[in-house]
Amino acid sequence: MRNTTLRRHSATSRQPPARSRLHPRPNRTATPADPPADPPTDSAHRLRPPTPRSRRRPPGRALAAVRPAGPSRRARDRIPRWRRVACDPTEANGTGRRTASSRVPSPGRGSRSHRDDSTAQFAAEAVDGPAVDEWEAVGHRSSQPSSHRPGRQSPPRRVRRKRPRRKESSVSRAVLVTGASRGIGRAIAHAFAERGDRVALHYGSRTEAAEAAFAALPGDGHVLVRGDLSTPDGAAELVETVSTGLGAVDVLVNNAAANEPHPIADTSYADWQAAWRRILDVNLLGAAHVSHLAARLMIERGAGGRIVNIGSRGAHRGEPDHPAYGASKAALHALGQSLAVALAPHGIAVASVAPGFVETERVADRLTDEVRGQSPFGRVAAPEEIAAAVLWLASPEAIWASGTVLDLNGASHLR
Ligand SMILES: NC(=O)c1ccc[n+]([C@@H]2O[C@H](COP(=O)([O-])OP(=O)(O)OC[C@H]3O[C@@H](n4cnc5c(N)ncnc54)[C@H](OP(=O)(O)O)[C@@H]3O)[C@@H](O)[C@H]2O)c1
Repeated sequence: MRNTTLRRHSATSRQPPARSRLHPRPNRTATPADPPADPPTDSAHRLRPPTPRSRRRPPGRALAAVRPAGPSRRARDRIPRWRRVACDPTEANGTGRRTASSRVPSPGRGSRSHRDDSTAQFAAEAVDGPAVDEWEAVGHRSSQPSSHRPGRQSPPRRVRRKRPRRKESSVSRAVLVTGASRGIGRAIAHAFAERGDRVALHYGSRTEAAEAAFAALPGDGHVLVRGDLSTPDGAAELVETVSTGLGAVDVLVNNAAANEPHPIADTSYADWQAAWRRILDVNLLGAAHVSHLAARLMIERGAGGRIVNIGSRGAHRGEPDHPAYGASKAALHALGQSLAVALAPHGIAVASVAPGFVETERVADRLTDEVRGQSPFGRVAAPEEIAAAVLWLASPEAIWASGTVLDLNGASHLR
């Protein structure tokens, strides 16, 4: 019997998605469309220091002749050949582009849709590395390197390869966040939606909380999915429902987890077994099954993708009263590292975060002064701080962090 339910987002009064923190920096360089700068006032003229003799323009000569487009021939001869190529993209192959793009998997293998932006982006960086952000390209395009200015002798800056690309926030990805009815999962779902992605907000049993989290998502195209992750069938139904609802899975965040105390000295053998089973079924096997199914969809589509696991500091520090939980998180970290290696050839990056205590409903009664004092900051994390790291790990720029286990514990546990 299917126990997965799906609900679509009613987006009547949604605001357009806000710009993410990774959004390109504003271009401060003047463009041809910019109005000319105000002419300096007389007082400004008076206050301006005199131009040094060496930089004065000879009478009758145009400014362009004094400030050439590149270094002078003599200066250029002093630059090593490899630096000159790096400075001048047109010297690389005559077009300014690398020829490796022929090895990029075709995004056209999957169904074509507005998601092809993310398809092309993930696929291209799998071979070439991440594209240059718009702000970087604009910066280089519109200003001369400082070494090209007369009178400066510093070595030329390396100009990174440019590839035309839409702004980050205009690429809408299909993102599945498991266990997002509250706490960290809810903050992660919100962060992706705020960036402009379409989110499948999954939950297990707290329908009311999940509906409230769903209603608070900014943007459009989201789906609310209920499903039990403790069984292989439940995981399969979840991924199938999300794939149908969003059309794809570009990013998977394995966040859902179960936890309950079972200190070894006070727990009967029967209760011990039951606790281990319940916890591993969700935290490890549920994440493994959803990862398998989502990764197979990503591979089939040929678009690359991202998997981010929500692990725990407890994997490294120990969980005396919750040993199955600590073990499940250590296993989840290891699973992420194995998948990072196995899935890299498909352009899929896999990473984990290992938070210390986070201010969520689940652990609210455990957040004592002693716990807050574990960090030299004297506090625990906010869910949004975990979400920001997950957002980055799922970004095109973070592909090289694949395989990492990122500590997010406010220096409460250094390893
Ligand atoms: N809070 C912390 O201090 C902390 C520290 C380190 C790591 N973490 C990790 O961060 C993640 C989120 O933590 P949190 O504190 O936000 O947890 P939480 O509030 O308890 O949320 C857990 C989520 O998992 C879902 N879930 C649990 N069992 C499920 C099942 N069998 N099937 C489907 N969904 C299930 C829950 O759904 P329902 O509520 O709808 O049942 C809920 O949405 C977890 O992986 C946790 O281990 C948390």
